[in-house]
Amino acid sequence: MTRDTLPATVSSTTDVESTGNDSVSQTKQGFDRRSLLKGLGIVGAAVSAGSLLAPEAGAEPTNGSITRGDTAILRFLAAAEILETDLWQQYNELGGIQDSEVPGGSGNPDYTEALAQLDEDMAQYIHDNTEDELTHELFINAYLVSKGAAPVSLERFRTLPSSKATGAQQVGRLTNLMQLTVDTTWYTRYRSRTGNPDLGDTFPPAIPTLAVGQHPAIPRSNDDLADPNFLQAIANTAAFHFATIEQGGTSLYPQLAQRVNSVEVLRIVLSIGGTEIAHFQTWGDKAGNAPQVSAIDPKTGVLVTFPDLNSPPLDGEDFQTNLIMPEPTVFLNRHLPPCSVIRPTATRGAAMAAVAALTADGLFIGQSNAFFEFMRELATQADAARRGF
Ligand SMILES: [Fe+2]
Ligand SMILES: [Fe+2]
Repeated sequence: MTRDTLPATVSSTTDVESTGNDSVSQTKQGFDRRSLLKGLGIVGAAVSAGSLLAPEAGAEPTNGSITRGDTAILRFLAAAEILETDLWQQYNELGGIQDSEVPGGSGNPDYTEALAQLDEDMAQYIHDNTEDELTHELFINAYLVSKGAAPVSLERFRTLPSSKATGAQQVGRLTNLMQLTVDTTWYTRYRSRTGNPDLGDTFPPAIPTLAVGQHPAIPRSNDDLADPNFLQAIANTAAFHFATIEQGGTSLYPQLAQRVNSVEVLRIVLSIGGTEIAHFQTWGDKAGNAPQVSAIDPKTGVLVTFPDLNSPPLDGEDFQTNLIMPEPTVFLNRHLPPCSVIRPTATRGAAMAAVAALTADGLFIGQSNAFFEFMRELATQADAARRGF
């Protein structure tokens, strides 16, 4: 499939063109998110080509084309970033800081307070992570357009409900944060000194109950604010989910970078990928601060337990909460010396594996078949990318 025949998804109905302009200064500052988002009423903007074409004065020329493979990799990453923005926006509306950088929502004081039990700066970190994802999404799509390739829009799949709790906007969402099944094996995977998933090793979850049943990571309605114990469990679930999402990005970028052709596209993938690592490190640290709590969801009867990860039977290096830097482990070959690395980084099938992991998370519960087909198509194209094509 040539670049020209990749599914073109430029929205024809956005307000971006009326709020955007061709001025160099706007492009240089980044896009005027406030007017952009206000015009759309939501984050995760479908970005029209016209608003994004102005080159930055003095910047390296961006004319010329990129390969079919590079296009496919960037299109998949654009979709992943749109999904990240959507989920982070929901967290920010309720538990972050709402301002001109990340508008939307009005905050939920009780949820914000429960999150602050892990770190008093949680609201700022949630805000900053949300803004980062939005810029990733907008930048990758703008870069695609600058190369004559179709940007990605998921606007037509924005059909999932918002939380009914105080603070959330009532708009259509792409992701569902109210029925998560969270894989926390990253916690022990990054603490292991002997295992690497790329060599077939498996790892126990830090919070086994999060891997069973469905758990809200945001209050579904104000009913979920009534029991402080359960609300803390929701906030703890969110904290572990933050790291689960960002460790996925931490692996995805180096996985796909190995099949990029253009040095400029490699620069983009390495530079954005590095911020995913920064996010993961932050959230890995905060998750370890989750207060011990055990709660039963009053609506579903599902149990969740956050144990003390520093006490028996969990004490030891695989659970020690302050081991937030990747422990050295086997890399490439068990005969080579241990190395502190991102894991996994094997490239084969990485995009489809990312879709599978997000799906298993419960993030897409309620999404349409057309959504899954579209994501699978993007992932198939990205996984078909090879160096030299
Ligand atoms: Fe991102
Ligand atoms: Fe991210």
